[in-house]
Amino acid sequence: MNWRVAVVGVGAVGTEMIRLLHARKFPMASLKVLARRARTEVIDGISYDVRTATPEEFDDVDIAFFAGTEGEKGASQTLGWEAVRRGAIVIDNGDDFRMDPRVPLVVPEINAEALQHHQGFIANPNCSTIIALMPLAPLHRAARLRRFIACTYQAVSGTGSAAIRELETQVRAWAVGEPMTHQVYPHQIAFNVLPSVGSFKDPSGESTEEQKMRRETHKILGVSDIQITTTCVRVPVFNGHSVAIHAEFEQPITPERAREILRNTPGVELVDDPTNAVYPMPIWASGRYEVLVGRIRRDPSFEHGLALWCSGDNIWKGAAQNAIQIAEELIARGWLRR
Ligand SMILES: NC(=O)c1ccc[n+]([C@@H]2O[C@H](COP(=O)([O-])OP(=O)(O)OC[C@H]3O[C@@H](n4cnc5c(N)ncnc54)[C@H](OP(=O)(O)O)[C@@H]3O)[C@@H](O)[C@H]2O)c1
Repeated sequence: MNWRVAVVGVGAVGTEMIRLLHARKFPMASLKVLARRARTEVIDGISYDVRTATPEEFDDVDIAFFAGTEGEKGASQTLGWEAVRRGAIVIDNGDDFRMDPRVPLVVPEINAEALQHHQGFIANPNCSTIIALMPLAPLHRAARLRRFIACTYQAVSGTGSAAIRELETQVRAWAVGEPMTHQVYPHQIAFNVLPSVGSFKDPSGESTEEQKMRRETHKILGVSDIQITTTCVRVPVFNGHSVAIHAEFEQPITPERAREILRNTPGVELVDDPTNAVYPMPIWASGRYEVLVGRIRRDPSFEHGLALWCSGDNIWKGAAQNAIQIAEELIARGWLRR
């Protein structure tokens, strides 16, 4: 059976969504591309007639992948549930409905069963949360996480296409000795790091991105007692987020056992030979379906502690690929019905 598909938003995530739908041979009867502004977009030599997203556009859609911006003017808030009312199943990349109790928050390798009773609207977790949980979830199942501390190294592609252009423009300006300008970030991002991802609304001093890691981890793993502290940092990398993780488990778990588990975890690739300079890096993770994990070692500051480092493609596994995997899972399990 082939499905009538729509992609809403044709920025950093939407563009890769279209590429991956073709690359993964997703069973499509049709592909409609929607955005704020109607125009023609050429992706990999194929010309797409981008139409303005309106409620009526969803009347003939089975699966709508939402990759529009977040917030009250964004596509998910203005059109998401309306698309469901009109018969589409919505898989949303943004943050607007991730914590909504009606909405399953799913990483297919970790909690696909949460899809079973979906109400037509499914959310993709935050990119850093997905990349951190791909190795952490199987370790949690083996030894039960008590707490973890995660420090992220997040690429500019996570902010969207305007941020990718901003880093490139700054690097070009630096190379010819011209002053660097900035609009997307509050400071220069080239040759700099910004300990600020998302916004600071909470009196605790945590950023919204840091809060997402805790809340979303609890919802995905179905537990609320894992202690989580995160520092989210934007780095001058075009694509591929990395996360340094220090985890404490309730039961003993050795680095050797962790490696054995991760070697056999679908969607994870063990890249762990630091003496030969082999460890996860964004340049290796970018354009890969798997999350790379390495630098696995004991963390002596915890009783049953492990430290690890992972890198993943934030646009693929952190967004577009995960969303498509959700749809593939729904189809495979017969939970996507017209
Ligand atoms: N980048 C990442 O690594 C990443 C990871 C996980 C999740 N996400 C989430 O994925 C979503 C897309 O991110 P992005 O990085 O692709 O952003 P982006 O590059 O800024 O692109 C946003 C796209 O959304 C469209 N859009 C915005 N508001 C819309 C509306 N009301 N109706 C229809 N289309 C609308 C825009 O249309 P126009 O082109 O016409 O302006 C544009 O094509 C966001 O919710 C983001 O938080 C991103």
